[in-house]
Amino acid sequence: MTDHKLIGIFDSGVGGLTVARHIGRELPHTPYIFFGDTLHVPYGGRRAEEVVSFIDAICHHLIKSGAGVLVMACNTSSALAFDHVVSWSNVPVIGIIEEAAKAAVATSKSGRIGVLANALTAGSGAYERACAKAVSSLSKEDVQVTPVGCPKLVPLIERGEIDGPNVEAALREYWQPLCEAKVDTVILGCTHYPFVRPVLERIAGEGVKVIDPALYVVERLKGLGFADVDGEKAENLRRYQVSGDALDFAKVSSQLLGQAVGPVEHVEL
Ligand code: DGL
Repeated sequence: MTDHKLIGIFDSGVGGLTVARHIGRELPHTPYIFFGDTLHVPYGGRRAEEVVSFIDAICHHLIKSGAGVLVMACNTSSALAFDHVVSWSNVPVIGIIEEAAKAAVATSKSGRIGVLANALTAGSGAYERACAKAVSSLSKEDVQVTPVGCPKLVPLIERGEIDGPNVEAALREYWQPLCEAKVDTVILGCTHYPFVRPVLERIAGEGVKVIDPALYVVERLKGLGFADVDGEKAENLRRYQVSGDALDFAKVSSQLLGQAVGPVEHVEL
């Protein structure tokens, strides 16, 4: 049965926790179920059709588990499957690209915007399209969007590595084309990347604004009536499920978040 208060959140892995964490802070009394497709992470190196089939299975599972709304805490899903899931889902679906693009267009002074993402998202053109739409809705000057695929980051972050020489070297490599493009605003186009934001900010320097798409999801949820209510905190009502190893996920996520996420369950889809 659909529980109109239950939020279904998903990603390929620990990245979606950057979105769940934000929802948890802003809506402390609202329960959610989080699904991490850790059996198939990273999505970035896979074929688009394959990823869309994983997303379909996850969304069906979350709706069957009672979710009253689906949050794609995953840029790849939003880029490749948003319209598709909306076409069959009987609950509202929230993607994370449109609002982030709007924020980037509103923020950028030079009109030069960078997007760091996995190869699938970077190659999909989704951020270019969303920024173009934002330009007309905000009546702004045209913008130039430079997407960069960053295949090394998700495997590092999934291992809990969020600083140190490997992360530093990868981010320097991925920052280079954005530095050459003279961007003044960069979108974290993968939900894993907020975990390496401090390193990126150090490399990019103070003049560059960083946009985290997670920040815009809560407003959409509130707009759908997921306003927080008084009462007991929902921490005990938050469930974490993964398609891979539950123990590994629990370990890495507590390392990344600085606190345990609560019981993690392995679920086969
Ligand atoms: N965190 C996801 C995203 O925002 C997917 C990363 C991956 O598995 O490649 O796109």
